[in-house]
Amino acid sequence: MRKPLIVGNWKMWGSREKAKQLVAGIVAQDSDENVDWGVCPPFPYLTQVLEQVGCDRVGAQTVSADTEVPHTGDVSATMLADLGVRWAIVGHSERRAERGESDSVVAQQVQCALQQGITPILCVGETLDQREQGAEEQVVRSQLESALKGAESSWPLVIAYEPVWAIGTGVVAEPYQVQAMHAMIRRAVSELGMAGDDTLILYGGSVKPENAKGLFALDDVDGALVGGASLDAEAFLAIIEAARSAKAL
Ligand code: PGA
Repeated sequence: MRKPLIVGNWKMWGSREKAKQLVAGIVAQDSDENVDWGVCPPFPYLTQVLEQVGCDRVGAQTVSADTEVPHTGDVSATMLADLGVRWAIVGHSERRAERGESDSVVAQQVQCALQQGITPILCVGETLDQREQGAEEQVVRSQLESALKGAESSWPLVIAYEPVWAIGTGVVAEPYQVQAMHAMIRRAVSELGMAGDDTLILYGGSVKPENAKGLFALDDVDGALVGGASLDAEAFLAIIEAARSAKAL
């Protein structure tokens, strides 16, 4: 049984006070049953959010592909493990596009996180151009092949399918597109050596309370990576609740 997971990706939003209020608003109302959730605040707020909500609910938005090298501004997996974060997002399309993080960098980030006991949330997804050319499965498969080289069934990795054209656009992928891709990802991760049936595959891209239940009703969707809607406690809670009711036995 895969326990649904909802992760909030706050990106570069917030302040100390907003982070505190947001987390307090979620914790005050969540019933903590049957659904796992967490938040990925910007680096400067990691410590305060960790203190507020505990290690099990906090992730980083990225991690360096190196350890102990002179990289100004980077944060290593060793440091994140030292703080106690549980997850690190890697391969987000914003970082692939704007920070030039290639498939091989993403593969190194996966390794660094795993070596420190941090669960990578590996983001994969195609651009609109690639989908229009019918290349979406090929693109996602090749991102997986690169990031999961040498994968073992014990890897505690989470995958997030995030079609680039659905991120922050208000356009959510159609359920049939999401299910088809998630099923392909599950097959691919099994072929690459991981335990496909146990791997959490999240959907990301304009997830909102209004569309969450339809997405979570899909067999191979195990939760969501939520950007914009995770900045509002009520909306984030409603998405958690949608997972709870869609996945109830
Ligand atoms: P969005 O972002 O929910 O605002 O589309 C998702 C993400 O980038 O992870």
